[in-house]
Amino acid sequence: VISRRDLINLFDYERAAQRALPKHVWDFVAGGSMDEVTLRRNRAAFEAIALRPRYLRDVGVPEVKTTMLGAEITMPVFISPAGLQTQVHPEGELATARAAARSGTVMVVPSSSPASYADLAIAAGGGPLWLQLYHRSREETERRVREVEEAGYKALCVTCDVPTASFKERDARNGFAIFGGVRTPASLSFLVTWEDVDWLRDLTTLPIVLKGLNTAEDAHLAVEHGVDAIFVSTHGGRLLDMTLSSIESLPAVVDAVGERLEVYVDSGVRRGSDVLKALALGAQAVGVGRPFFWGLAVGGAAGVHSMLELLRTELTLVMTYTGQASIHSLDAGLLHIPSGWGF
Ligand SMILES: Cc1cc2nc3c(=O)[nH]c(=O)nc-3n(C[C@H](O)[C@H](O)[C@H](O)COP(=O)(O)O)c2cc1C
Repeated sequence: VISRRDLINLFDYERAAQRALPKHVWDFVAGGSMDEVTLRRNRAAFEAIALRPRYLRDVGVPEVKTTMLGAEITMPVFISPAGLQTQVHPEGELATARAAARSGTVMVVPSSSPASYADLAIAAGGGPLWLQLYHRSREETERRVREVEEAGYKALCVTCDVPTASFKERDARNGFAIFGGVRTPASLSFLVTWEDVDWLRDLTTLPIVLKGLNTAEDAHLAVEHGVDAIFVSTHGGRLLDMTLSSIESLPAVVDAVGERLEVYVDSGVRRGSDVLKALALGAQAVGVGRPFFWGLAVGGAAGVHSMLELLRTELTLVMTYTGQASIHSLDAGLLHIPSGWGF
């Protein structure tokens, strides 16, 4: 575990990563779409929720172990899927897989990983891996699904919030062209529909997670289409600008699905208290995106592992301070949510 005195929270990792990376790579990781309103709102909304601590309780060592679709994880924080990890560290996805396994949590592997899904399974050494899917064609998706079934992955995570390529203005200004510099609509079209979800449901027995749904309407449809979990996300503010933050959208999705599906959330999680807030609003676990890129940039697998362990430490601390013995007995009474949110 990296424990330098100048790396005591995730924002320290952020600053260190910015110093370490070329500007165009930094902007690619840090940026959001258009005016970056959703990007900022993701943080602002977490910061606007206040905690209502309960004292005079014996919380012992707070319980933070949980499960995601049956896979045991040692804390309710996992690695969100994100492509181009080798841009910030040569070992890229392989390093992240080792770090997630070491922290005892899920890594959602980006479909675009340059390391093979089988090699990532070896790197994770039995740690739980899920595959993120951008659905471009049934042939390609089926090939990927068969590969990860073989490699022992535990679930599929279909990204739903990218009907067309992300267009981030920072990347445009820097001339940072991804996907081999090809910017044609056809090569960047990921249009996935409910029909494809049904097709995928019939194709495999692996659990299916839909990432990027943010409304009660879509949550109801997800239940009807027989998926296993919803991953509320704004894609870190990288796709559609001017949406609610993920944490604001979470309660409506949790309400819509009740106990039927697991719900996860990401976008803007930077502190143990953010994790606690999301769990108190009904999330089973939370994902981190940019923070693991910062960890990678600072120290490869060790950096990602240390970043995750910081979140574990902070979560345990804030649970102790708020009188919470277990993440399994949290509820919204722990929170003060501003009426109207005030943005
Ligand atoms: C550099 C980068 C690449 C990403 N690539 C993908 C991707 O390929 N597929 C996907 O579903 N989400 C992708 N995401 C979004 C993340 O899964 C996640 O939703 C987001 O980063 C969470 O917000 P946070 O960065 O504030 O933690 C990417 C995010 C970043 C920062």
